[in-house]
Amino acid sequence: MKKLIELDINDRIYEVAVEDRDLLIDVIRKKVGLIGTKKGCGDGDCGACTVLIDGQPELSCIKLAIASQGKKITTIEGLVQEGGALHPLQQAYVDQGAVQCGFCTPGMILASKALLDRNPEPSQDYIKHELSGNICRCTGYKRIIQAVEAAAVVWSKEGVK
Ligand code: FES
Ligand code: FES
Repeated sequence: MKKLIELDINDRIYEVAVEDRDLLIDVIRKKVGLIGTKKGCGDGDCGACTVLIDGQPELSCIKLAIASQGKKITTIEGLVQEGGALHPLQQAYVDQGAVQCGFCTPGMILASKALLDRNPEPSQDYIKHELSGNICRCTGYKRIIQAVEAAAVVWSKEGVK
């Protein structure tokens, strides 16, 4: 039986009817219509479906929608700045050529945001460790790490959020 729940996504409240077993990724994509969050393995292994929940990266393919009530969920769409400008992390990914097919990119950027929020001056080893749950089949990771380093420079100057 479906239940009506409220989800706080990107600072907007969405009322959605869900079954107990509905996964957060399916609700975000199919019921809320935010298709920036990608479903790769659907099994908790690739990180493509990463969203931020109360600021922490979480795999939306293994999280029940019902368990996400009362929390602040951020998807890649929530990073866009006023006037539609890209978030500095998104811009850094573009500038450094860290986006190829782009399938991993939304999850990778959200995991990058969480790591820079925790540590605005990360070492390469820290970046690698924090992004180790996000798999990219295209870039070889070097440009992704460069993008996070470039964004960190902006972070430390401007205190990005
Ligand atoms: S789609 Fe969620 S971890 Fe792969
Ligand atoms: S850019 Fe293609 S999977 Fe990462």
